[in-house]
Amino acid sequence: GKTHHHKFVVKSSSYSRLCSSKDILTVNGRFPGPTLKAHRGDKMVIEVHNKANFNITLHWHGVRLVRNPWSDGPMYITQCPIQPGNKYTYRIEFTTEEGTIWWHAHSGWARATVHGAIFVYPKPGSSYPFPKPFAEVPIILGEWWKRDVMEIPSNANLTGGEPILSDAYTINGEPGFLYPCSKKGTFNMLVEHGKTYLLRIISAVMDEELFFGIAHHKLILVGKDGAYTKQVETSYIMIAPGQSMDLLLEANQPHGLYVMAARAYSSAIGAGFDKTMTSAIVKYHGSDDHHHQPRGRPAFPHLPPYNRTQAATDFTKQFRSLATKDHPTKVPLQVDTHLFFTISVNLLNCSNKPCTGPFGKRFSASVNNISFVMPPSIDILRAYYYKIPGVFEKDFPEKPPKEFNYTGDDLPERFLAPSYGTKVMLLKYNVSVELVLQGTNVLASDNHPVHLHGYSFYVVGSGFGNFNPKLDPLRYNLVDPPEESTVGVPKNGWVAIRFRADNPGVWLMHCHIERHQTWGMSMVFLVQNGVSHHSRILSPPHDLPTC
Ligand code: C2O
Ligand code: CU
Repeated sequence: GKTHHHKFVVKSSSYSRLCSSKDILTVNGRFPGPTLKAHRGDKMVIEVHNKANFNITLHWHGVRLVRNPWSDGPMYITQCPIQPGNKYTYRIEFTTEEGTIWWHAHSGWARATVHGAIFVYPKPGSSYPFPKPFAEVPIILGEWWKRDVMEIPSNANLTGGEPILSDAYTINGEPGFLYPCSKKGTFNMLVEHGKTYLLRIISAVMDEELFFGIAHHKLILVGKDGAYTKQVETSYIMIAPGQSMDLLLEANQPHGLYVMAARAYSSAIGAGFDKTMTSAIVKYHGSDDHHHQPRGRPAFPHLPPYNRTQAATDFTKQFRSLATKDHPTKVPLQVDTHLFFTISVNLLNCSNKPCTGPFGKRFSASVNNISFVMPPSIDILRAYYYKIPGVFEKDFPEKPPKEFNYTGDDLPERFLAPSYGTKVMLLKYNVSVELVLQGTNVLASDNHPVHLHGYSFYVVGSGFGNFNPKLDPLRYNLVDPPEESTVGVPKNGWVAIRFRADNPGVWLMHCHIERHQTWGMSMVFLVQNGVSHHSRILSPPHDLPTC
């Protein structure tokens, strides 16, 4: 493969949206940031210069980083942050991923504006498992915040009932013509009648899942999270924070303008989330309407209502991997290690800080009832590699501390307080793992898009209610389960995933809903070295930032 060199300068730049200007963090002054392109088998060297006033790290979401956790990016997990004025070089390689993935900041809430697409083309000489599209278009779903997102993690709102909300959703950085002062910038996608386009869709949204669709057009799903899928024809998609999808769009409608739009799907009851819609225009070449906004009665896509969990599930349950000779499915059939993790939103008594949350408590979140605490001034990877004691504990539990009716309506555990800790789970090199992620109704149930660093995994089963270890495994798909790296754990339900722990390193797993992650919905796998030279973590790079 080829090696591509890039220079990323993280700096603050002024942008105007929703009738006012503000400084946001950008890469190379761009929002969304630059698109990276490579073929499978290629390498990339990205020199990141921090010219901003914040500590920064970048993460390559969906890239396995084989034996190289040093380039993975999550702050205080695999590296100390790049401090203002400093630089760090990330080295990544596209070994098995193919399709659309993305990169984003992994420090505080910086990823709200510091993110971009990664296109991974097939190896030179091989082709897509579908007819070659006429053109490829990145569609990055995001948000615009009037407030300073970098202040949110330490903001009092985290303790309170007031929801943490953006002011608009965006398509390619633009709120679209339904928002004030946003007509001119609205993203226009020009198409030619009769051609097929590959939409490379990424959700860089912080806190909500979205429904997305294009008026009068069918979409054909062909990939997810950097792996191909069997084709699924659909009129809408549901995409969660962290996920990416490849969709074919056939421009087969009469000449004219069609609205592309997205709005929230929120599974949380009563959540005070943003119900507004972001929009863009699909415009047929030769349409005589030269305005940015459709005149007369623009055609809008029919998106499901915001609370329609069934519509979300109907879409996601169709995912299947290709399972062909060229794209085989490598789901482990034997399981060495069975894990069962509950993921919960909790309430916590406040000790000293004033608490403005429900019942005078503050929000928290947990995996197996442990709310994750980041080490304050060193990363876990370095502590592990250099055997520095006292940074983390190796006793992350294989199952929750006690059994209860996880998804019951009136749980006595409603006010379950989590414990706190920087705990990792050790995995021996190359063990095959089955992990059941069980959503709970401890405080309130919600959909949780869970992302695992350093791996992709196979989603072998999912369902509503409590996982039944006797019956549910009988219905697993071990033939063509989808290969993903961010899986939606359904509201009041569970998913079962399988992977082989063949990538040594320190790998974060967390909910990609940023507020849940901030509240502690994270844990860390420490995959130990194997015996052979090729199953060990690479040596640290010489320019690794120090804290
Ligand atoms: Cu997309 Cu840990 O991140
Ligand atoms: Cu979550």
